[in-house]
Amino acid sequence: MHIREYVEDDLDAVFRLRRLAFNSTERPEQLVRPGTHGLVAELDGRVAGVLGIGAFAQFYGGAAVPMGGIGGVAVDGAFRGRGVAAALLDAAIGAMREHGQPVSALYPTVPTLYRGFGWERAGRFEQVELPMDRLLSVPAPDELIPSRPAEEGDLAALHDCYTEVARTIDGMADRRPPRIDPAKVLEMDLVSVLPGPDGLRGYLTAKREPGGGDLGRLKVFDLVGADLQAQLNLLASLRSWAGTLDAVDLRVVDPATIDLLGATPLRYSVSTSTWMLRVVDLPAAVAARGWPPVPDLAVDLEVVDPRAPWHAGLCRIVATDGVVRVEPGGSGAVRLHARALGPWFSGLQNTHALRRAGLLDGDPADAAPLDLLAASSGVPRLADFF
Ligand SMILES: CC(C)(COP(=O)(O)OP(=O)(O)OC[C@H]1O[C@@H](n2cnc3c(N)ncnc32)[C@H](O)[C@@H]1OP(=O)(O)O)[C@@H](O)C(=O)NCCC(=O)NCCS
Repeated sequence: MHIREYVEDDLDAVFRLRRLAFNSTERPEQLVRPGTHGLVAELDGRVAGVLGIGAFAQFYGGAAVPMGGIGGVAVDGAFRGRGVAAALLDAAIGAMREHGQPVSALYPTVPTLYRGFGWERAGRFEQVELPMDRLLSVPAPDELIPSRPAEEGDLAALHDCYTEVARTIDGMADRRPPRIDPAKVLEMDLVSVLPGPDGLRGYLTAKREPGGGDLGRLKVFDLVGADLQAQLNLLASLRSWAGTLDAVDLRVVDPATIDLLGATPLRYSVSTSTWMLRVVDLPAAVAARGWPPVPDLAVDLEVVDPRAPWHAGLCRIVATDGVVRVEPGGSGAVRLHARALGPWFSGLQNTHALRRAGLLDGDPADAAPLDLLAASSGVPRLADFF
């Protein structure tokens, strides 16, 4: 089997595989785009499988950590079960390290496949159905902030407004170009902004979509308010749909909007996609992340990761004077499986849960500093799908 970077001439073969695998109907105009590259596997001289790697970054502890977003993994139906996906994933781990992407995220259709390569569930992408009667009972804002449609000149401020909120939520994409094009937002059906004295205080993007009867649905992609009054104004703006719709669908960007301000009933519908994370290069990932202020500490690890030999074996995570880094050596007191690294790094799981899943061993007291570093940051989230 031969694995290589895909080139523009592979477009037809790649589209054929993805059409078969995902029922994709729209043939993309271009395969090799800025911010995305990919690998193909050739077997018997034919393109047998493909995988894309997007150049994203995710906020962790307020810092944007470069992330390789794996997507569009597809193997020809006639070549399945022969290790094609396995070979592509192995090559992708090395490629991401070379491209300076110390972590990798993906939305799995087949979690067991990716677990075998060190990815593990590490956060959520959620969409909530907000019944209109409940939206009507959200408290009215004290301050009315007149909204207006967004214009091209608002794009930078809109991006800043998103970033101000997203950088405080572990896992969120920083939406940097070229992989994410900030100008695309203006293609939405509704983009309203709340001007503030210094940029934007908030904005809302939404699309009308079919479904839910003749009148269709309203899908809100971003409802982002930098402060309480901005969030309440945006929620109040959704009430104007009460005559037309029974509910609106809201993609969760800021968990505070739903959990702390929304008036959802006891039971409500949430659609969840979990994403998996793999730490590709532990020292680089630790250096790139932001960390909470912690006292000086050290944890001795043995990382069990045969697919990433560059960081496998004995190392120590050391915090001194507020700087956290990985050093080689140490006693290996805490044994961490490759799959433990993602949910630990994102903060989704603490050392107790990792131990119960068979992904961590060693004295609990030796492992406890890992929780001081990463746990309890809230549910890690992404609001972008790839
Ligand atoms: C999923 C898919 C990419 C697997 O490709 P493949 O080349 O047949 O996979 P491999 O032969 O390399 O299998 C690697 C490992 O994953 C396991 N695996 C593969 N497909 C699996 C499935 N559907 N369910 C559970 N495990 C699976 C294999 O058993 C193997 O494990 P093992 O080494 O322990 O035996 C392929 O079936 C496909 O294209 N499916 C449709 C598209 C899709 O779902 N893509 C994933 C998008 S996230």
